[in-house]
Amino acid sequence: MTVIDFDLSDRAFWALPHDQRERAFRQLRALDAPVFYEEPEVPFAPKGPGYYALVHHADVVAASRNPKVFASGRGGAISVPDLPEDFAEYFGSMINMDDPRHARLRRIVNRAFTPATVAQLTGNVRTVAEQITEELLAAGPGGDFVTTAAARLPLKIICDLMGLPESEYGFVLEHSNTILGGFDPEYGSADLAETGMMLLNAGMQLQQLVQDIAVRRERAPTDDLTSALVHANVDGERLTLQELGSFFILLLVAGNETTRHSITAGLRLLTVNPDQRALLTSDLDTLAPGAVEEIVRVTSPVIFMRRKLTQDHELNGQQYREGDKVVLFYNSANVDEAVFTDPYRFDITRSPNPHLGFGAAGPHFCLGAHLARLEITEMLCVLLRRIPTIEGGEPVYLYSNFINGVKHMPYTF
Ligand code: HEM
Repeated sequence: MTVIDFDLSDRAFWALPHDQRERAFRQLRALDAPVFYEEPEVPFAPKGPGYYALVHHADVVAASRNPKVFASGRGGAISVPDLPEDFAEYFGSMINMDDPRHARLRRIVNRAFTPATVAQLTGNVRTVAEQITEELLAAGPGGDFVTTAAARLPLKIICDLMGLPESEYGFVLEHSNTILGGFDPEYGSADLAETGMMLLNAGMQLQQLVQDIAVRRERAPTDDLTSALVHANVDGERLTLQELGSFFILLLVAGNETTRHSITAGLRLLTVNPDQRALLTSDLDTLAPGAVEEIVRVTSPVIFMRRKLTQDHELNGQQYREGDKVVLFYNSANVDEAVFTDPYRFDITRSPNPHLGFGAAGPHFCLGAHLARLEITEMLCVLLRRIPTIEGGEPVYLYSNFINGVKHMPYTF
């Protein structure tokens, strides 16, 4: 085991300024073997044996593409401690499953997220981005960019897809903030046991919302995704109400937070890199797709996913045993010097840009990646065209070891 003077399992590590954390990950990448960390003590799950921190691009890629050995379904992928039963009821959707259950669920929902289906949403996404931008303009400078703009687009789009009325937006936003609020006292509690209860409560509330809608769609189908899910029939099987509920929670949470943070971080990156902004605005249509990929790389909205070894296995020279846990640190893989030249430079023309912001190729690669790209592109392009002088001020970051998020950011124009 390598001795290193910081601990990724310590909550205090995730409160350090960004550049100090980056320095720590740089040190980890300079080692020739992954460091093993003890698991943090949490009140809602038994303490596990610990985990290896995979910080290299090559390790994250190799583990992601070998799901038979690196499983998501053994205690879950979204948390280092194994998810207890009551959590799994609400948060145990496809992201925490292996085949064949994973493949079955993914087949049911894939159609709604293909590039072709998502492309049909372009007009709608643009109209919403335009409305938000007009309201921001009318409100004048000095507000919070997250609540005035960035949070609203993904929330509306995902709620529309699922068939949730506008009256539920506030409810959905509040509970998804709680679920991905990490250690942040603004959304949870300083006490982990209390945060656990708040998480369960948020899951229960959202589950109830889905069940109400599902029952209505069962009787009277519409053209929304909830109707498609309620009536989906794959190999003669229907989704159970519990599967529907936890999938719905996954979509709401995954679809909201990550995209919101990318939009906010995008405006900030363009503000502090005026050369890149000038380049982008010189040819928005051509350069926007590359800029969006670079925003997701630099931001790495999802910090990690976890896998558990189903058998003894050697990966890139390191021997793992059955039952070992590995944590795939996307934030570190995305600035791995072995893959990215000048990795801390924000370069909208970076090519190739094999970032792992949406995960690496494998069965769990982000289902919503095309939708997220569309939303980030439309929101930033509409803003830059309509309010060319808009700038993002100093962000207030979320305190979390799972999501690189911005809670608030002032804007001026
Ligand atoms: C910038 C925005 C986003 C980022 C950075 C992001 C990132 C990720 C990552 C890292 C994973 C895990 C990949 C793995 O385990 O290999 C993932 C999975 C997933 N994402 Fe996203 N995501 C984003 C937006 C969205 C949106 C908009 C939706 C849906 C509307 C969505 C739905 C999902 C789902 C359902 C999964 C689980 C897929 C599976 O297990 O098969 N994501 N995402």
